[in-house]
Amino acid sequence: MAQKVRKAVFPVAGLGTRFLPATKAIPKEMLTVVDRPVIQYAVEEARAAGIEEFIFVSGRGKTSLIEHFDHSFELTQTLMARGKTKELEDLQRWLPDPGQVVTTRQHLPMGLGHAVLCAKRAVGNEPFAVILPDDLVLSQTPCLKQMVEAWEEVGGALVAVQEVPRHQTRRYGVLNIDHDYGKLISVRGLVEKPAPEVAPSTLSIIGRYILPPEVFGHLETTERGAGGEIQLTDGMVKLIGQTPFHGYRFEGKRYDCGDRFGFLEANLAFGLAREDVAPALRRIVSELFN
Ligand code: UTP
Repeated sequence: MAQKVRKAVFPVAGLGTRFLPATKAIPKEMLTVVDRPVIQYAVEEARAAGIEEFIFVSGRGKTSLIEHFDHSFELTQTLMARGKTKELEDLQRWLPDPGQVVTTRQHLPMGLGHAVLCAKRAVGNEPFAVILPDDLVLSQTPCLKQMVEAWEEVGGALVAVQEVPRHQTRRYGVLNIDHDYGKLISVRGLVEKPAPEVAPSTLSIIGRYILPPEVFGHLETTERGAGGEIQLTDGMVKLIGQTPFHGYRFEGKRYDCGDRFGFLEANLAFGLAREDVAPALRRIVSELFN
């Protein structure tokens, strides 16, 4: 039987310095877009893609994030006593089942590649997804679900990509394109955070990946790269030539919630996409401009 993507890794050990002072005592993944924390969108997206095990790589000060996915006895009792059955049902709907959440720690924030490596034991010898929760994707079909369907055809490694303006290539891992098939792009190479003048293309990786377990061995031998961190891109690049490696142009729009403007935009876009929020939000925004 073909392998299935059953596990997703959520690296949440970053410091969130771009979002200070908000992130001094609160993990950036717990900031709310409309009415739920950013991490909850990521977990719901993973579940919609058929993921059965949610692996959080956390660090210092991230306790509230882990608590968010735990059963809250006091809250359940209080909601029951007050007859708030709808609120109770809403809470139960997205809460992972007992045993579905695994947490591991990255002792020092040594980079995204290192954070993914910290999930090696929890993942074991099977393909897995990586979701960076700060990247929210608003789409018809959840982004990871689109990717899982494409991955079932091509296997190997699959990374979500989008075109970015050339002056922004320094913020991304960028593809060196072998062949562009439209939705799928076969990859010849990857460069982490290239200067615009040397970037091999403007097709850039965003925070959704499906990777084979062989990437762990490569991450173990990856030296510190751009920014003095162990970069996931530098580990992934070693897969090229060993396993099929594709970029995937997903349907939808991505918002970078690790950045204050991306975060504000996500609040507006996700609010306007919700029937229960859009009418009031439209009115509020138009009043602000009058
Ligand atoms: P970012 O590049 O956004 O870094 O990480 P950051 O530290 O979280 O935030 P800034 O740049 O200081 O504002 C991308 C993803 O990788 C995780 C982050 O939690 C985020 O999901 N990450 C990054 C780790 O888990 N560990 C690290 O050492 C670095």
